[in-house]
Amino acid sequence: MNLEYLSGFGNEFASEALPGALPVGQNSPQKAPYGLYTELFSGTAFTMARSEARRTWLYRIQPSANHPAFAKLERQLAGGPLGAVTPNRLRWNPLDFPSEPTDFIDGLVGMVANAVSEKPSGISIYHYRANRSMDRVFFNADGELLLVPEQGRLRIATELGVLDVEPLEIVVLPRGLKFRVELLDAQARGYVAENHGAPLRLPDLGPIGSNGLANPRDFLSPVAHYEDLKQPTTLVQKFLGELWACELDHSPLNVVAWHGNNVPYKYDLRRFNTIGTVSFDHPDPSIFTVLTSPTSTHGLANLDFVIFPPRWMVAENTFRPPWFHRNLMNEYMGLIQGAYDAKAEGFLPGGASLHSCMSAHGPDGETCTKAINVDLAPHKIDNTMAFMFETSQVLRPTQFALQCPQLQPSYDACWASLPATFNPNRR
Ligand SMILES: [Fe+2]
Repeated sequence: MNLEYLSGFGNEFASEALPGALPVGQNSPQKAPYGLYTELFSGTAFTMARSEARRTWLYRIQPSANHPAFAKLERQLAGGPLGAVTPNRLRWNPLDFPSEPTDFIDGLVGMVANAVSEKPSGISIYHYRANRSMDRVFFNADGELLLVPEQGRLRIATELGVLDVEPLEIVVLPRGLKFRVELLDAQARGYVAENHGAPLRLPDLGPIGSNGLANPRDFLSPVAHYEDLKQPTTLVQKFLGELWACELDHSPLNVVAWHGNNVPYKYDLRRFNTIGTVSFDHPDPSIFTVLTSPTSTHGLANLDFVIFPPRWMVAENTFRPPWFHRNLMNEYMGLIQGAYDAKAEGFLPGGASLHSCMSAHGPDGETCTKAINVDLAPHKIDNTMAFMFETSQVLRPTQFALQCPQLQPSYDACWASLPATFNPNRR
């Protein structure tokens, strides 16, 4: 299958899988072409500012309304409810791949969250592991999904078309969009941020100007593709944190044409235009923001998706790793490949760390000692891709995250080896 994509971010795209399937000049004609049904798919309230409004018109074989009642599934999302509050710094080894047949939904494990499902803000973070394709279709009523694959390529068949993604690419699926995750390799693993707040968007660039960081044309959305299948299909939804399902007699991925801007998209992190210092010190990590979900307080993010890509380090007379810091924001980090420049060991691809509001952290002892003494020649950090889900509300770990064997018992020790270098007699 050779996939086509539409390029751009926030665009009013139009796509049709059959010629003339999109009505011309109006959204909801008395009779849509080809006997299709018209359906509006809204991602924001109708009355949002035009620059923030997201909606797509769908022309489909059966309207989504044609479904029986949903029943609560016996098997719910793994991870369990939120556990005890902790201000401690936490770090996890990568989760194991499942030994039982496990699709994307069953392989989702809740790790941390700062939201109750009823609230239209906050985020929840999951890891996924899968070893089989979904034979059911899923949608999430609770938020937008940002998938960060770490291992294994995925084919994501959505209502609006098909996207292939691989590690070092990300994909964003709007709240409520129906999709099926298929595996293109034997197994897959990665991270998911569920964004309960405002949809992700590109950050403003301020003095950077009109170019840089993630460029709009590198975001790719699928073209219309439909399944005209009369076969039993299980449709699963997550609603206020619980999984519910109903049985359809057709595929719900049956949209023949669509137009609008409430669309899934993917982005290749290797295309990120990384900006940093060419003199001394280094900018705040917000310079690495790919996408942001703002709150109503200007500059305060509900979710920032930030990456630490390969880049040249050239700063003179500078402690080059991330400085020691204590921040307002809460940081959940993951690693897609290679090593992260602030940690000598213990932070592995597929692993994760949590540094909550005002928890002190920074480079470990080994990295710090090296950085103070190294010859500061230009140096390229290569073969790496770490990332951060950063959020303004404290993240609470799930019971699973606090009890799983992957939780490292002695993460604090990585700062215990910081040498005592203070000498009041030597400036
Ligand atoms: Fe940090």
